[in-house]
Amino acid sequence: MNSHEISLTVNGKTRRSEVEPRVLLVHHLRDGLGVTSPHVGCDTGQCGACTVLIDGRAVKSCTVFAVQADGSEIVTVDGLTGENGGLHPLQKSFKEKHGLQCGYCTPGMILSAHDLLEKTPDPSEEEIRSHLKGNFCRCTGYQNIVEAVRHAAEELSERDAAMEVAR
Ligand code: FES
Ligand code: FES
Repeated sequence: MNSHEISLTVNGKTRRSEVEPRVLLVHHLRDGLGVTSPHVGCDTGQCGACTVLIDGRAVKSCTVFAVQADGSEIVTVDGLTGENGGLHPLQKSFKEKHGLQCGYCTPGMILSAHDLLEKTPDPSEEEIRSHLKGNFCRCTGYQNIVEAVRHAAEELSERDAAMEVAR
């Protein structure tokens, strides 16, 4: 099958490669580029473990061909950072609130939550549950995940308020 040259910016680095048009973005990231944080948890587009940010929006990377993402900016969970290069508030909150056990769903959960907090900085519990319904967790019962997202929303709002005062 013919290959196409594509260029993706993944976690700030531009990567050029040849891909066949049949290759899904999640497989290209994992097998082609060695970026293994997006996980494959199903073959039906349901679990959300493969979620990445494409140009800032959370997308299940098993639902997109790599060639369709040509020219995009992609962020995976290991591309998020907090202040001074430390953990992002969402990463910290999942750790502190015990929002993960095996961690398989966590990259997708965090990136979907990131998408939510960009649009809705102060979400209710119902809004968090509704936004994360495309992400399946087989370990935690979801309660701690919801608490982690709420906690991250509070941390981000305090951080933004402190930055406003410092200006
Ligand atoms: S692997 Fe993409 S939704 Fe499950
Ligand atoms: S922490 Fe194990 S699947 Fe969610």
